[in-house]
Formats: sequence, structure tokens, C-alpha cells
Amino acid sequence: MKKYLLGNLKMNMDLKQTEKYIESFLPLVENSKNEIVIFPAFTNLMFAKQKLTSSKVNLGAQNMSSEPSGAFTGEVSGLMLKSVGANYVLIGHSERRKYFLEKSDVVNKKIKEALGQGLKVVLCIGETKYERQNKKYKQVLEKEIVDSFKGLYENELKNIIIAYEPVWSIGTGKLPTPKQIEEVATIIKEKIATEFSEKASKASKILYGGSINSQNAKTYGEIKGINGLLVGGASLEPKEFAKICNI
Ligand code: PGA
Repeated sequence: MKKYLLGNLKMNMDLKQTEKYIESFLPLVENSKNEIVIFPAFTNLMFAKQKLTSSKVNLGAQNMSSEPSGAFTGEVSGLMLKSVGANYVLIGHSERRKYFLEKSDVVNKKIKEALGQGLKVVLCIGETKYERQNKKYKQVLEKEIVDSFKGLYENELKNIIIAYEPVWSIGTGKLPTPKQIEEVATIIKEKIATEFSEKASKASKILYGGSINSQNAKTYGEIKGINGLLVGGASLEPKEFAKICNI
């Protein structure tokens, strides 16, 4: 079955480096049957789109405003992302929550705004180390789902992918066990079933993200209930990310 392989490039690469990156990456994944998406910084999006046009690799943004337009200095709207050719957007990444104090009501607003603009949403959720150690992760993840999906219609869920990214695993080299991830996938699916329906739960797509590299991608990409991987650090190296995309 087709897997989702997403590369979150974070705040890395200028235009020239983005060009070099895409030029080395594309030939390495041209035969991949997977859904590949790269998420460059805002300033590289339009240029990246031009470089990607003849490929099947998709383009996504790492964040967007919860507002459609107006006096919000420094913000970028969903409409703007759409107009430069992005079709995915990451929402609620833990770095946004931690460093930019994004709360769940804003995440919820962003999701609605993104869907309204026809963007596919990758919603990031995940517990901290403290929450995991104190067995609060189930409660935390369920609350993140309820808060993020507040006021959404069931038919809107088809344009949302949930990325489970334990905060303690991002950029640390520490991974949950496949069993722990399988358990979380079940928690997410059960919550969607009670909040929406069994049908929506079955159709939901869940990714894992946190310390993925070409060595562990196959094992983690094949966990029951997991439809793909969201990759940070290891996506910065075209060869390394291509290996992950070709799992
Ligand atoms: P990492 O980051 O792969 O570097 O752990 C994942 C992410 O932040 O999405």
C-alpha cells in the first residue's frame, strides 16, 4: 500500500541550496510509488514548486496563519500558500507549540482555514517525556484530537493526516517502540470513532515522526496502523531522504 513520506526541512536552506537539494533528490525518487511531500521554508516554496512541476513530489508549507488576510504582520495565509503551489500544510508541529506558544484553539482555527483553502492538513500531535513517564499520554493525545477537530464535519477529515510525533523523540535519536506506536495509533482511531464514526476512523491516516532515518524507516513505516513517516533531520540529506522514500 502507498505510504506517505514527508520531509520537514524546517528553517534550513536558502534558494541555491534548495535548488541543489531538489536537483539531487528528484532522480532518486522518480520510480517511487509513495506519496512524497517536501516542506521547505516559506521563501523557497514558489521556487521549489517550479523545480517540482514535472515530478510527482508534492509541496507543503511548515505553518500558516489562522486568519484569511489582513493586518497580521509577518504572517502567511493559506490562500498565499495555495497560490504558490503548495497543497499540504503542517499544523501544530511541536516546535510551533513550544517556541511560538501555539495553543489548541489556534491549531483548530488553522485547520479550518487550511481546509477552506483546499489544502491538505498534516496535524502534529504528541506527548512530552513527562506525560509519557507519568502515563498521561492517552489523555493528552485524546484531548489534542478533540480540541483540534472541534467543529469539523466528518467529511472534512479525509483531508487531514495525523502525525504522531512524541515531543521527546523529535531530534533526539530516542524512539518509542513499534508496540508503543501501535498503541497510539489505536488510541487515535478509537477517539475518531467516538467523536465521528467507525467509517471515519477506518479511513483515517496516521503517520509517525521523530528520529526517523534510513536505518529504521522500514521497521517504523510498517507498524500496524501507520501510513507513513514524517521526517525532520534525515530529510535534509537528499540521498538519505530518498532511501526513506523508497521503502
Ligand atoms: P526529526 O524531526 O526527524 O529530526 O526527529 C521530526 C519532526 O520534527 O517532524
